[in-house]
Amino acid sequence: MLKSPMMKFLLIAAGLMLSSAAWAQDPALRGRDLLDDNCARCHAIDKNGASPREGAPAFRTLSRSFDMDEFATRLQGGLMSGHPDMPEFKFNEDDARAVATYLRSIQE
Ligand code: HEC
Repeated sequence: MLKSPMMKFLLIAAGLMLSSAAWAQDPALRGRDLLDDNCARCHAIDKNGASPREGAPAFRTLSRSFDMDEFATRLQGGLMSGHPDMPEFKFNEDDARAVATYLRSIQE
C-alpha cells in the first residue's frame, strides 16, 4: 500500500531532511541569511532593489570598491569602522567565508 498516510509522511520527512541538508551545505545561502539578519535593514543584499538606508551601497556593487577575497578577511577583523551609527560586526572564519561566497554570487 504505497499510498498509505504513513508512506506520505515518510516521503515528506525525507524531503525536509534533504532540503535542510542542502541549506547547511550551501555557504551562499548561509551567507545571505547572515546578511539578512545583520545588514539588510540598511543595505540592499540581493541582485535587485535599493538599499533601505540612504547612502548605504547595494551589496551587489561592492566588488567595484573591494577585492572579494580580501573582503572575507576584513569581515573577520571587524571591517565596518566607517559606518555612522552602525554596530561593529565581526564574523568568524566560516561565516565570513559564507558571506563572501554569497556576495560573489550577486556581484554585477
Ligand atoms: C545602520 C545601518 C547599517 C547597517 C546595519 C549596515 N550598514 Fe554598511 N553602511 C551603512 C552606510 C550608511 C554606509 C555608507 C556610508 C559609509 O561608508 O560610512 C555603509 C557602507 C558599507 C560598506 C562600504 C565600505 C565602507 O566601509 O565605506 C560596506 C562594505 C558595508 N557597509 C558593509 C556592511 C555589512 C557587511 C553589514 C552587515 C554585517 C552592514 N554594512 C550593515 C549603513 C549600515
